[in-house]
Amino acid sequence: MPRDPHQLTVPEFVARKADGRKLTVLTAYDYPTARMLDSTGIEGILVGDSLSMVVQGHANTLPVTLEEMIYHAEMVGRAVRHALVIVDMPFPSFHLGTHRAIDSAGRILKETRCQAVKLEGGVEQAETIAALVAAGIPVMAHVGLRPQSIHQLGGYRVQRDEKQLLADARAAEQAGAFSIVLECIPTGIAGRISGELHIPTIGIGAGRDCDGQVLVIHDLLGLHDGRVPRHVRAYADLRSEACRAITRFRDDVRQGEFPGAEQAFQ
Ligand code: KIV
Repeated sequence: MPRDPHQLTVPEFVARKADGRKLTVLTAYDYPTARMLDSTGIEGILVGDSLSMVVQGHANTLPVTLEEMIYHAEMVGRAVRHALVIVDMPFPSFHLGTHRAIDSAGRILKETRCQAVKLEGGVEQAETIAALVAAGIPVMAHVGLRPQSIHQLGGYRVQRDEKQLLADARAAEQAGAFSIVLECIPTGIAGRISGELHIPTIGIGAGRDCDGQVLVIHDLLGLHDGRVPRHVRAYADLRSEACRAITRFRDDVRQGEFPGAEQAFQ
């Protein structure tokens, strides 16, 4: 399928920071959701490894595989005409040396039509980020709360070590990352990082001073039956709405009211 000539490029995404225009990024894991998001004109669509939790039902983001990320990213890549599409590198695809990281990220770009990858880490991933960028693969870094390190961090907690957070963000920028996700860090620290860096910061639980915001689409639409994290604002309650529709269908079937004459053929 031919690409839209106006699909946002990585340099255009980066330039939004200098223009002072806030960036909106949301996750998608399938074709219809990606079509819907893209129609709203948001700048970025992230095929997040959060799919491990919100789509596959795992307890954390560790189980999802590279093959599964590619499978979902392919659906999203096929759907999107306007937004920049970024795909998470799953654990541990970028911890196995720069060669393996380029191989994995290269597969993502070759097989999915998506334009960039995201990986968790700052200082300790600088060499890998630089190697990917040298191979022509745009990288979004991810610092602060890094869900793939959940066992090491001991829980989903706000990260407050300003010195480390600044060092991670600076290292990612110096290594060539085009943008950085800041997850669950205090507003003041996120603001200082955003003020210092030349590349856009995309916050999630990092306050309003970031250059953009990202949310998991299931959180924004209210598709969960579980607890939503503090940093989320649910803009809809689609789970309740869907359950109401499904219950009405069940009742109509049980009472012989579906299908009606309009849904039947003579
Ligand atoms: O996997 C994901 O959805 C993410 C966002 C929460 C930033 O990394």
